[in-house]
Amino acid sequence: MAPSSNNLLIALLVALAISLQPSAAFEIRIPPFPCIPGLPDIWFIPCYNATPAPPMKEITECWTPVMKMMPCAGFLTNASITEASSDCCKGFKSVPDGGAAICYCHIGNGDIAKLLPGTLNFTRLYSLPKVCHDIVGLEAYAHCDRAGVPPLTPPSPAPSSPAH
Ligand SMILES: *[C@@H]1O[C@H](CO)[C@@H](O)[C@H](O)[C@H]1NC(C)=O
Ligand SMILES: *[C@@H]1O[C@H](CO)[C@@H](O)[C@H](O)[C@H]1NC(C)=O
Repeated sequence: MAPSSNNLLIALLVALAISLQPSAAFEIRIPPFPCIPGLPDIWFIPCYNATPAPPMKEITECWTPVMKMMPCAGFLTNASITEASSDCCKGFKSVPDGGAAICYCHIGNGDIAKLLPGTLNFTRLYSLPKVCHDIVGLEAYAHCDRAGVPPLTPPSPAPSSPAH
């Protein structure tokens, strides 16, 4: 005799699984379902053991992300280079890659000038989101809390075995 409470549970799970994916409602495909500890395995509802996402690699320095903007050096410092190159825009847009959006702070506050060969033209610096069509860059400036911004220093060398 099948326990009726199990049947009810199965019906609920199926209903839930279908309602989780309204766009696929007509396919009657059951999406991957997290295993619920304590509940019996239900063979026709595959479940996966939810594993926590690996922690994002912590950004410890902003030198590497900000250096991606070095193709902008001419545009930012040389009056006769009046257009940002596509490499410059590519670099500017890739600064936040890998969770480094906070490093835009070193750009917004002009720290980037320390890495440039000439005098930073702030007008051009602040024109980058516009000329590169990258609005996201500006939003990152809102999170520039001094204490939380990794330093603009080159990465420390990876721990290596003693030199021979
Ligand atoms: C500025 O750019 C012009 C044109 O590319 C170049 O000839 C000149 O040497 C540059 N000046 C500096 C200081 O780099
Ligand atoms: C900075 O760039 C702007 C826009 O290209 C330009 O009008 C201005 O003359 C530049 N300033 C200096 C000091 O070169």
